[in-house]
Amino acid sequence: MIDAVTKRYPDGTTAVDRLTLEIPDGSITVLVGPSGCGKTTTLRMINRMVEPTEGRILLDGRDVREAPVNALRRSMGYVIQHAGLFPHRSVVDNIATVPRLLGWDKNKARDRARELMERVGLDASFAKRYPYQLSGGQQQRVGVARALAADPPVLLMDEPFSAVDPIVRKGLQDELLRIQADLGKTVVFVTHDIDEAIKLGDMVAVLREGGRLAQYAPPAQLLSAPADAFVEDFLGVDRGIRHLSFFGTEGLELSTEPIVAEDATAEQVRAATLAETPFVLVTDAEGRPRGWADALDLATGGAGELLPYGHAFTIGRDSLRAALDSAVLSPTGWAVAVDEQGRAVGVAAQEAVAAAIRSAHTADVLR
Ligand SMILES: Nc1ncnc2c1ncn2[C@@H]1O[C@H](COP(=O)(O)OP(=O)(O)O)[C@@H](O)[C@H]1O
Ligand SMILES: [Mg+2]
Repeated sequence: MIDAVTKRYPDGTTAVDRLTLEIPDGSITVLVGPSGCGKTTTLRMINRMVEPTEGRILLDGRDVREAPVNALRRSMGYVIQHAGLFPHRSVVDNIATVPRLLGWDKNKARDRARELMERVGLDASFAKRYPYQLSGGQQQRVGVARALAADPPVLLMDEPFSAVDPIVRKGLQDELLRIQADLGKTVVFVTHDIDEAIKLGDMVAVLREGGRLAQYAPPAQLLSAPADAFVEDFLGVDRGIRHLSFFGTEGLELSTEPIVAEDATAEQVRAATLAETPFVLVTDAEGRPRGWADALDLATGGAGELLPYGHAFTIGRDSLRAALDSAVLSPTGWAVAVDEQGRAVGVAAQEAVAAAIRSAHTADVLR
């Protein structure tokens, strides 16, 4: 709990201005905002690398100033942008740093380090390497493993993935979500990237210049109801589309008639071509989509060349955003739905996706 905290640096800069945030246990809270809005200062006040000028920070109801500072910091893993690894220590020994400080014997600490390497997706063959022998993304994984080594309940992360390329960053984000789901840590994550905030955060605090809170809400609510023009601007132009990623596809109405397997009987082909669509989805013998055939061609004996179907979405797992994307990418305007095994289970017209979006919005408003 961050309770009415203000930080003024000696030169008079107000970095954080009366910030209050109730940070839920066991979930990811993201602080996001433009450079200089006080994110790092806020994070560092939690582990007392910076002391507040006013206000209090409570951990499990206790003021962090009551605990000895070393004990406090050991209860909080800390990950920064360039990992901050010790250059002359191998990967295992970097990860084992805090357990060793806590007096674990060397073998136990190294066993723990190897276990964590696996958890953060690092191959065991990296154990003896030195940080300079790793890519940026691998170094960040070591940084995360090191922060988790003593199993702290709290993880503080300051732009940990900002310096790696987008594909590696996506991998690191997915890994963090997996780790969080497994371990249930309380994570406070700082970023200037709103997409990263929306992807990772259970709660997102948007800060503005001068260290003032602009909005504190779950990501779906930020997208549907930004508090003011600053937040709206910060979210960008396509927030309506992005909001769709929070709506599931369970309720989407699918048609199964215009689907036919390549080894279908003449009777089945005829039935498929009688469906209302000018195109029929042809699947392979296992039911996986192959492409669209012109219904008239199919009815008159030959499918000819199949049109590509773009990409399918997985019903129940993917969001309405994915379904809409499939529909607009499809040359026929129909999205292809598949099950977890990749078998086509139905198709949905753009209109059907639009109807599902409208009812999802209605349900959202009524909730
Ligand atoms: N040690 C410091 N002394 C004076 N001003 C500082 C210090 N650290 C940060 N600031 C100022 O405080 C403001 C917030 O900084 P910071 O918390 O680093 O923001 P962010 O992490 O959001 O980029 C900025 O204006 C920055 O220049
Ligand atoms: Mg910062």
